[in-house]
Amino acid sequence: MIPVRLDTGPVVLIGHDGMLGTAWRAELDRASIPHHDVSFPDFDLTRADHLAGLPLVEGGLVINCSGWTDVDGAERDEAAATRLNGDAVGALAERCVQARCTVVHYSTDYVFDGEATAPYPVDGLQRPLSAYGRSKAAGERKLWACGGSFLLVRTSWLYAPWGNNFVRTIARLVRERATVSVVDDQRGRPTSAEHLAAATRRLLEVGVRGNVHVTDAGECTWFGFAAAIAAVVAPSCEVRPCSTAEFPRPARRPPYSVLDVARAEASLGPMPTWQANLAAVLSRLP
Ligand SMILES: NC(=O)c1ccc[n+]([C@@H]2O[C@H](COP(=O)([O-])OP(=O)(O)OC[C@H]3O[C@@H](n4cnc5c(N)ncnc54)[C@H](OP(=O)(O)O)[C@@H]3O)[C@@H](O)[C@H]2O)c1
Repeated sequence: MIPVRLDTGPVVLIGHDGMLGTAWRAELDRASIPHHDVSFPDFDLTRADHLAGLPLVEGGLVINCSGWTDVDGAERDEAAATRLNGDAVGALAERCVQARCTVVHYSTDYVFDGEATAPYPVDGLQRPLSAYGRSKAAGERKLWACGGSFLLVRTSWLYAPWGNNFVRTIARLVRERATVSVVDDQRGRPTSAEHLAAATRRLLEVGVRGNVHVTDAGECTWFGFAAAIAAVVAPSCEVRPCSTAEFPRPARRPPYSVLDVARAEASLGPMPTWQANLAAVLSRLP
């Protein structure tokens, strides 16, 4: 294993202005770790010349928070989603092997088919239902194939006080409306982006490499998650359960996508609950 050195040069943070990238930036600042931030469109991960220009140092660290994250949009242009989530991840991994760097990359619960009845282990069988899931699974395979030093973190249902996410959308809707209907037949694990960044840093520090799952503890449906948000933000709004069939979307979602976080918890201890992390985020919403 190549040890990660945070003192020899800046950590390269790709996608620093996305939801997770913003959390990572704050995490690195809190720890006084210097970082070199790059983001689209000035930096395009699908471009070989941009990749070649990254200031990588031997023994250093690259954190990739970029990606095609429009799940429904990927159905319309799977080739473009795969260029970024698949091919470009492979090219980044190869560049990191040449530079003897460690790369952190994020993947998703949507690589699984949702037919399980118990949490998906880190080596669970992949059978993505959507173009987005297939594009992320392609990136995972390319990362493994490179044979370099990597930490591949699967996560799910990200939220933060910033960016486009379910918590901010529901907080706005329940303030505006008397009733809101939310699907109650998809079950998973919400994840605070700030918790994810902090947990990833600790995993790196204790030497964990390879595949790992990081989420908040506990599980719920989107309806349960929305009801918890409304209870704090606008208790007078009625949140109603509905089925996925009532709200058809271009991309199929797994009905059950709870990730098994045992490997992360073996190094870090119990994950904080989604209720605790959600309360902390809601308290900071305007
Ligand atoms: N959000 C979730 O619920 C969730 C769940 C599981 C896993 N993940 C994974 O977690 C990671 C971070 O997700 P996120 O929600 O933080 O994403 P996000 O907020 O959508 O941020 C993605 C970032 O990637 C940038 N980007 C887009 N195309 C690029 C390109 N060609 N080259 C370089 N950067 C590009 C975006 O820039 P622009 O904004 O300018 O397009 C944006 O800054 C992704 O790998 C995602 O697949 C997310």
